[in-house]
Amino acid sequence: MLIYAGSASRYFGLKLARILGVEYVSVESRKFPDGELYIRLEKEPRGEVAVLVQSMYRTPNDYLIEYFFISRTLKELGAKEVVGVIPYFPYARQDTRFRPGEVVSLSVVLELLEKMGTDRVVTVDMHLHRVQDIEEISKIPFTNLSVMKEIGKYFKDKIRRENTVVVGPDEEAEQWVKMVAGVLQTPYTVLEKVRLGDVEVEIKAKEEELIKRRDILIVDDIISTGGTIEAAVKKVKEIGANRVFVACAHAILAASAEYRIFHEGVEELVASDTVPSPYSVISAVPVVANYLEMLKSY
Ligand code: R5P
Repeated sequence: MLIYAGSASRYFGLKLARILGVEYVSVESRKFPDGELYIRLEKEPRGEVAVLVQSMYRTPNDYLIEYFFISRTLKELGAKEVVGVIPYFPYARQDTRFRPGEVVSLSVVLELLEKMGTDRVVTVDMHLHRVQDIEEISKIPFTNLSVMKEIGKYFKDKIRRENTVVVGPDEEAEQWVKMVAGVLQTPYTVLEKVRLGDVEVEIKAKEEELIKRRDILIVDDIISTGGTIEAAVKKVKEIGANRVFVACAHAILAASAEYRIFHEGVEELVASDTVPSPYSVISAVPVVANYLEMLKSY
């Protein structure tokens, strides 16, 4: 097995190679003056399982094209299998045609992965809503891992468990808060969210009694603009919550997300390293390594 990484995930790839005890192969990637991409692999993958790591955050289109160039080349150069490790999977939220004429971006990305030589995909806490099981719409094996248990473990010694409730900002978040609350052995609840625009959301609470005078750990999969977390923090504080902590798998933190989160008085923001940020104190690498262990002996 050889580990390759695109420019979004070199550190992730190096850590993965170290844990697995396999070779990390450098990938030269640079732009020509006209913006086109030049890529060269330091070593060809002939006969080996080639793992290609590329998270696709903040500038997903650049990272996607780089990924496709490398994946296709790994296949051309004789990789036995190309395993795409995509810690943050882009376009997952556009999984249907909400309005006539819209592109179903998720289907396009899935089809391109397959056509560009990827044999198998591994991701982390993919945003699944209308599509409940990604394997049903992907033509290649697709595994969705989770860092939610790691988030639970991180908070074990940080919070007063007897007084804490794990809260999801919307009903979709139930799958994640359940896992975190399971590790912490605390109650959980989810709020109700209506999206009004790209940033603005309206949030209501069903179980106010559970939130009152409690420490709250808000857990979501993605923080993008921070609009969801801002509204959720406001709501739990309005109800009478004590301290509020926030955790997510993918801290995209677009635009003024940090301001939106912290000016509401959040104690701590914690995220995984699927998207590198100053809050990435939890690593998804051991979770991915554990899964890849079984492919090592191929
Ligand atoms: C969608 O429902 C997701 O689970 C997140 O709640 C959403 O992507 C967060 O986006 P934002 O930070 O822009 O509100």
